[in-house]
Amino acid sequence: MNIAMLGSGFIARFYADTLHAQRRLDRIINVYSRNADNAERFAQDYGLDCFSTSMEETINSEKVDVVIISLPNHLHEEAVMACAEAGKAVLCTKPLGRTAAEAKRMLDAVESAGIFAGYLEDLCYTPKFLKSVESVNAGSLGKILWTKSREAHPGPHSDWFWDKEQSGGGAIIDLGCHCVEIGRNFIGKSVRPVEVMCWADTQVHPIDAEDHAIALVKYENGAIGQFEVSWTFRGGMDLRDEVMGTEGTIWLNSFLRTGFDMFTTGKGAKYVAEKAESDSGWLFPVGDEAHELGYPHMFTDMFDAMDKGKEPRETFYDGYIVNAILDAAFLSAESKLWEPIKIDDWRGDNISEKETNYISHDAEYYLIKKETLPNGDEKLILKSKATGKVIQKTTRN
Ligand SMILES: NC(=O)c1ccc[n+]([C@@H]2O[C@H](COP(=O)([O-])OP(=O)(O)OC[C@H]3O[C@@H](n4cnc5c(N)ncnc54)[C@H](O)[C@@H]3O)[C@@H](O)[C@H]2O)c1
Repeated sequence: MNIAMLGSGFIARFYADTLHAQRRLDRIINVYSRNADNAERFAQDYGLDCFSTSMEETINSEKVDVVIISLPNHLHEEAVMACAEAGKAVLCTKPLGRTAAEAKRMLDAVESAGIFAGYLEDLCYTPKFLKSVESVNAGSLGKILWTKSREAHPGPHSDWFWDKEQSGGGAIIDLGCHCVEIGRNFIGKSVRPVEVMCWADTQVHPIDAEDHAIALVKYENGAIGQFEVSWTFRGGMDLRDEVMGTEGTIWLNSFLRTGFDMFTTGKGAKYVAEKAESDSGWLFPVGDEAHELGYPHMFTDMFDAMDKGKEPRETFYDGYIVNAILDAAFLSAESKLWEPIKIDDWRGDNISEKETNYISHDAEYYLIKKETLPNGDEKLILKSKATGKVIQKTTRN
């Protein structure tokens, strides 16, 4: 397919490096940037036929099959609307909108135009993540009760991120969008997120937006999704996820510890990894950043879905739900209360009664806990189904 790239900055380059690597077939053919020098440099670096300082011209070029939006958050809506108008398939980077209202307008526009639309949420495509979701879906962890997702680094690389009007917020909108969608994938996208409790503060930087936040997202089936996001973290980019279920646990570390440790005095120092703060001493480089961050699997899924006429794993609807959850997080940070998540058209399941996860020991008792003690004795903690009394039974070694 022929791809138009909107934007020529940090993520546009990551995407282009991925799309033009490993003998891939789909090619970027043109690029839009408001700055002609940047557009020309991008076109030269990736061997493109043309570049433009007009978004419309780039999207409407006859040869273009699909448009990738790599622009700052406040320009996503304008770019999506232009793609809908032109009838071109569109892939938009995260977050979809600055608010759920913005995301919903984009969702409605692509659906009424009948165009393919994919949400570029790379961290839901890392090889570790895909394998983990497969295990969760196969039941290896039982019912998921608690997910925890952290993205923390010393802050983003361009002015617009730090300007609340252009970005829509600080660490919550920039990093929380990843964490929320990671949690949703593990808990189940069909499970409705209902309310959010969030703490947020501006601890370090002279900005209007928050540079640190921690939140709990409550789901209708009783599961809880925790996110921890920060632009104040020192020491690189910390990307960690945890999944806790009735039958198991997964811990993932996607960046600072990928099994690659290196010491250098600093001789021959160069780029180490995204947001790395040092190029000497003990370092934690990343072998193939695009791969570790999920970009190749993400684009494969997007282009396969387009070929097969089906939905990708991450859709504009997902982007909208993420924005709805983040809207509630911003409200909660202000009100210091649990805030309801407002979703205009919920397309998942509705659960009328909270499920219980009790394990029956026999006709008389529920099993609360089974443990082997240091002396080899086996202890059972049981609860009578009839009276509710809790007892213990010990089998001697
Ligand atoms: N992991 C990820 O998926 C990931 C990582 C980083 C950024 N992003 C997202 O990608 C988007 C762009 O972020 P980035 O890191 O590439 O930013 P960037 O600042 O590096 O690049 C932004 C691009 O947009 C252009 N631009 C800026 N202001 C503009 C304006 N007013 N009009 C027209 N063009 C303008 C810049 O010149 C540049 O080409 C954001 O939505 C961000 O959230 C996603």
